[in-house]
Amino acid sequence: MSPTAASRPRVLSGIQPDFGLHLGNYLGALRNWARDQDRYENYFCIVDLHALTRAPDPQRLRELTLELAAMYVACGLDPARCEIFVQSHVPAHSELCWILETLTPMGWLERMTQFKARSEAQGRERVNTGVFTYPDLMAADILLYDADFVPVGEDQRQHIELCRDLANRLNSQRGDVLKVPAALISTVGARVMGLDTPDEKMSKSIAADRPGHAVMLLDPPDVVRRKIARATTDTEPAVHAPPGPGVANLLEIYAALREVSTDAALAEFDGKSYSVLKGAVADAVIDALAPIQARYAELRSDEDGLRRLLAASAQRVHVVADATLRRVQEAVGVR
Ligand code: TYM
Repeated sequence: MSPTAASRPRVLSGIQPDFGLHLGNYLGALRNWARDQDRYENYFCIVDLHALTRAPDPQRLRELTLELAAMYVACGLDPARCEIFVQSHVPAHSELCWILETLTPMGWLERMTQFKARSEAQGRERVNTGVFTYPDLMAADILLYDADFVPVGEDQRQHIELCRDLANRLNSQRGDVLKVPAALISTVGARVMGLDTPDEKMSKSIAADRPGHAVMLLDPPDVVRRKIARATTDTEPAVHAPPGPGVANLLEIYAALREVSTDAALAEFDGKSYSVLKGAVADAVIDALAPIQARYAELRSDEDGLRRLLAASAQRVHVVADATLRRVQEAVGVR
């Protein structure tokens, strides 16, 4: 990274290599990271330890990790301006996580939406403990790098609140040890909804079971067009104000990709049929994905290049993470 980067506010964010990425991951996270990379000092992590909470096949996890590294760069992150690294390559993440767990009341974790949803789906007794303490590991990811901001989609707000609570708790007990970060959530595209079920958030795991739920970043144009053509709309014959949830979601995707306000998008399509709106949304998505897909194919075929990039970044970020870990260890008395 250029020396001037060090004087900028620092951002840290991450994505789990658990499934392929969808349009929500792009609009809520990756696109914003790439767009703003000159404003910040950039740390972007591939959180493979978090992905272990889904008990993935080991070989598939290794592949998904490299695929995600390629996708970060394909979406525009410049390795010369961004640290792009794998969580498990930096042991300080797990070490700080343990210390944070000792500061976290169970009640804080029991309130987490993600833990509640997985408990409901699988039965609380069977959910692995990693799902429960997941927010502590995420807090470690953020706090280790003294991040000022955490650019994420709306669904991560609760986790970042918990991270802030933890930093404040340690600081109030042991003096100013940790920087307290803030969430950075954009106004458009921070909560893209499922195409088939616009009352639930577009989700990687749901899309793995129901392809019509999400446009994936690697979907070819005909698939994009088909999925959007089948997206749930309203019973009304044409776009109107106020739009129902399915139409509002399509308008938001369009507004985010074409960089117009949602009001301007609604005005543009007001009175037009859903097929006109869907055609325009599909065009916008295909235009955005084409360069990403071309770049991804090049990068993914150079596995050695990707591995080198990740190893070099891990070496650099190690130094930053270890310094914070040492500060915390001294503050709590284990050094
Ligand atoms: P993950 O892997 O589920 O999602 C990656 C990013 O995509 C955003 N996102 C969405 N944005 C808009 N609409 C949607 N439907 C949508 N779905 C997902 C997420 O908000 C996220 O920004 N816990 C995190 C990973 C993580 C992390 C971190 C993030 C681990 N450590 C430290 C920030 C900082 C997660 O599971 O993201």
